[in-house]
Amino acid sequence: MRILIVGSGGREHTLAWKIAQSPRAEKVFVTPGNDGLAEVAEPVTIKAGGIEDLADWAEKNRIDFTVVGPEVPLALGIADVFARRGLPLFGPSQVAACLEASKVFAKEIMAKYSVPTAPFRVFDNAEAAKEYIRSRKEPLVIKADGLAAGKGVILPESIREAEKAIYQLMEEKIYGDAGNRVVIEDRLSGEEVSLLAVTDGKTILPLLPAQDHKRAGEGDQGPNTGGMGAYAPASILTPELLATTTTRILEPVIQGMSKEGHPYTGVLYAGLMLTKNGPEVVEFNVRFGDPETQVILPLLQTDLVEVISAVLAGKLDEVSLSWRQGAAACVVLASAGYPGPYQTGQKITGLQEAAALEDFLIFHAGTERKDGIWRTSGGRVLNLVGIGATIPEALEKAYRGAELIHFSGCYYRRDIGWRELQRLQAGTK
Ligand code: AMP
Ligand code: GLY
Repeated sequence: MRILIVGSGGREHTLAWKIAQSPRAEKVFVTPGNDGLAEVAEPVTIKAGGIEDLADWAEKNRIDFTVVGPEVPLALGIADVFARRGLPLFGPSQVAACLEASKVFAKEIMAKYSVPTAPFRVFDNAEAAKEYIRSRKEPLVIKADGLAAGKGVILPESIREAEKAIYQLMEEKIYGDAGNRVVIEDRLSGEEVSLLAVTDGKTILPLLPAQDHKRAGEGDQGPNTGGMGAYAPASILTPELLATTTTRILEPVIQGMSKEGHPYTGVLYAGLMLTKNGPEVVEFNVRFGDPETQVILPLLQTDLVEVISAVLAGKLDEVSLSWRQGAAACVVLASAGYPGPYQTGQKITGLQEAAALEDFLIFHAGTERKDGIWRTSGGRVLNLVGIGATIPEALEKAYRGAELIHFSGCYYRRDIGWRELQRLQAGTK
């Protein structure tokens, strides 16, 4: 099979790495890809890079199926365009992608199908939103309706801050039309966990639960980032909680989307908060998580091409997933300043030494290679993944690799998996 992956980061490198292992994969392309994944797939620049251009390229290059990494092409309707042209693609339709692209849509689906999530109100008027905020004493969360590159969620510390957020989103429009409407919801408390599930719209196969680390600083402090690390499996989502999540969240949403006439296919990412009332949804993503994918796929033993082919054929009921025993942990090496402004073009050393380590994988996120020299080209530069019998072992392997790799301004969190480590410690006392 000839397979095309859309995207350019560590998640796409991981997808390419896993897909390339399939005996059915003859050739894997990633567009635009990155230099670091060239070992497993061919990065291709598709001129213009619009959705029709991608479809033209896929057709001309006899691509058997396409996998989409990021949410933006899905929200723009890449699945619909490919479907119209008879090109198989793994990912939801434009309307189904609204589970991520519109917080209002997602909340309304959840309300309609009784999926546990924070109580909410929708506003398209800034004054009304502010009035509502003043009428509530409890901590709230304000969310821009549309996509805002992960920045559209605000957890205000005071009424003043909440009003300011409304002003910025709805009047200043710092995220453009994404702020035409806002969701204001009650703040939940509990530990967060990511549960991804593959589905053909009928059968739902959950992947291993993972936990990511969105904040830049240790102890989960500091600004939000695209993700500074992750680990799997996250034991906080016990088999009982997984069963509850499947029956109370995944099934009603997937079945609900079918009832709405917009069957959901691809991978659905449920961002959960484990509250004292059980798992509740804080967000849906309509794609693989980044960096969760970097720790989930290395543990998947089943051929991903088989899984995707089954989804495309509507025969996911014929597949079961098997997992390698043990755990995986990912540490993200980032450029100084990230998620704020950062420098690029810094020389990276030690990649070769690190690559020789056992049970250790390097997925490139923001690198480029010129004249044989690796340099940084992004905020999140490298994803270092350790695999071990236990989470502490996996972490140790990831950090061993981190010690070997250097570039000017490199920083990374040293406390990836701290919640799991705390649990382990508490359990052994
Ligand atoms: P989202 O983009 O919807 O995932 O929101 C980003 C982050 O904001 C989540 O990962 C949570 O940490 C936090 N968050 C979102 N909604 C809530 C909520 N209702 N209560 C508490 N925290 C929330
Ligand atoms: N890890 C968060 C995300 O993929 O959105």
